[in-house]
Amino acid sequence: MTAQLNPRGDVAVLVPAAGAGVRLGPGRPKALRLLAGEPLLVHAVRRLAAAPSVHTIVVAAPAAEVAAVRDLLAPVAPVTVVPGGAERQASVAAALAAVPAGLEIVLVHDAARALTPPEVVESVAATVRAGHDAVIPVLPVVDTIKEVDAGEVVLGTVDRATLRAVQTPQGFRRAVLSAAHAAAVDALTDDAGLVEKQGVAVRCVPGSEYALKITRPFDLALAEHLLTSES
Ligand code: CTP
Ligand code: MG
Repeated sequence: MTAQLNPRGDVAVLVPAAGAGVRLGPGRPKALRLLAGEPLLVHAVRRLAAAPSVHTIVVAAPAAEVAAVRDLLAPVAPVTVVPGGAERQASVAAALAAVPAGLEIVLVHDAARALTPPEVVESVAATVRAGHDAVIPVLPVVDTIKEVDAGEVVLGTVDRATLRAVQTPQGFRRAVLSAAHAAAVDALTDDAGLVEKQGVAVRCVPGSEYALKITRPFDLALAEHLLTSES
């Protein structure tokens, strides 16, 4: 059954899903690869649709897969599907252009973070609603991080206490995200990075281990394990 999105929700979520998934190895675009029998994108959209703040979901699909992605998601939730671009940033910009007027909170969420719990979506949205223009979910860094030179010789050890690993969904006041994209010159892998360049303060909230980005085969195996041991 198709989940109904909340007509009283105040949040649009953009889902860049147009990447190839090169690091996952040969196969279909990553968002369409199967995890426990269903495409990553289906897992991601189902969890977004379960977050009560979400009013609109816009997916940026691989250009050749737009019709297939519409059909795939129709039974999951009402979504808008647009063709993505060559870089993630272009895919986000294409999805942003399709957000209807009136929604002033916009979240950007990687399809590759397919198991992100709805609670993280709600927490990011609530923090934007509370007055923060840019919000990111983060985890503490557990490994010791070293800076190295081109010859793999250590230059120094970074103080781990001040580091955070950044996840999605990242949440923004709509005007702030639009302005950052309009001003973007070089492609960055995260939207908060664009907003930082505009001098906007970015607020951190706790992320989730389940929001891991499925990038390499190991991550897919881990996600499969998390899903099957959950139920
Ligand atoms: N993405 C996108 N458009 C692109 C590139 C990436 O919408 N041109 C999306 C991906 O589909 C993914 C998210 O951005 O949901 C994060 O990107 P990443 O994990 O790097 O995915 P891929 O680019 O697909 O993977 P790879 O870099 O290994 O090819
Ligand atoms: Mg990529």
